[in-house]
Amino acid sequence: MLKIALTGADGLVGSRIIELLKDFSFIPIPQAKMDITNTEQTNAIIKEIDFDIFLHLAAYTNVAAAETNKELCFKINVEGTKNVFDAVTNKGKKFVYISTDFVFDGKNPPYFEDSTPNPPGIYAQSKYEGEKIVNNKAMIVRISYPYRAKFEIKKDFFRTFKSYLEQKKPLFMITDSLMTPTLIDDIAFGLKHLLNNYSPEIFHLGGGRALSPYEAAMLVAEKFNLDKSLIGKTTYEEYMKNKPGLPQYANIRSKKNNFWKMKTFDEGLEEIKIQMSNDKTANE
Ligand SMILES: NC(=O)c1ccc[n+]([C@@H]2O[C@H](COP(=O)([O-])OP(=O)(O)OC[C@H]3O[C@@H](n4cnc5c(N)ncnc54)[C@H](OP(=O)(O)O)[C@@H]3O)[C@@H](O)[C@H]2O)c1
Repeated sequence: MLKIALTGADGLVGSRIIELLKDFSFIPIPQAKMDITNTEQTNAIIKEIDFDIFLHLAAYTNVAAAETNKELCFKINVEGTKNVFDAVTNKGKKFVYISTDFVFDGKNPPYFEDSTPNPPGIYAQSKYEGEKIVNNKAMIVRISYPYRAKFEIKKDFFRTFKSYLEQKKPLFMITDSLMTPTLIDDIAFGLKHLLNNYSPEIFHLGGGRALSPYEAAMLVAEKFNLDKSLIGKTTYEEYMKNKPGLPQYANIRSKKNNFWKMKTFDEGLEEIKIQMSNDKTANE
């Protein structure tokens, strides 16, 4: 059984990967045990643990806050990544870096594994700097707008939309931009293949189809019988006045993924409805 050490194991994506993939032996390394910005501590911990592949998910992930916290964002996403990568490669072990579709500027979609990044904001720049540290020497897996049925600690965009609509709060959604929502379960199963077939290349694990945030919110309302009239329209230009760092057409595709079918948002929401109703039955 492959032994996978990982950072970010308690996060939105990492915790679901561990929940779903039962045929690996995971070794989660929480921040409390190893702060990746602490070089000595990171070296010492990685030296002492036994693993085959290191999956690096830990990151400063607040895109909006990164704009005013550049130093911390770079410290975690760039210096932190370098610390972990150096310690892992010093041991001669394999490394997987989880990155983002935000490394692309969103001006000329779609984006494939060999498209040229041009990160638009601080978070995206920091993730791209992280990529540059490991590029050609490790696997880079870019993911996009991950979502899942439940995770109390952090809301993804899907559960944010849903909870707004459930609370009857209006939503103003962009009509002239694209996002590629990705069910985290698909990221996990795609990664399962990639971990079993490791190669130091770039891979994209994005959802089956890109759509506008307006379409995405309407789909959430439709699937969960919520009030569509709460969803208003806005433009990318208007929205960007409050939220810098967001690429306009975040449409990632893959030339390499012939191993796992990634669900569209429509299909992903159907899967989530099944998981939610199974949960309800299990709790009854
Ligand atoms: N969420 C998205 O929309 C999205 C989109 C594309 C790509 N990604 C990428 O996917 C990966 C996972 O994202 P996520 O949303 O699952 O993250 P998340 O829920 O925000 O969790 C971030 C994780 O990073 C850990 N961490 C932060 N600073 C650390 C430090 N100094 N030392 C050690 N650990 C530290 C946190 O540990 P504690 O819990 O112990 O604080 C937490 O487990 C990231 O690399 C992110 O860039 C995310």
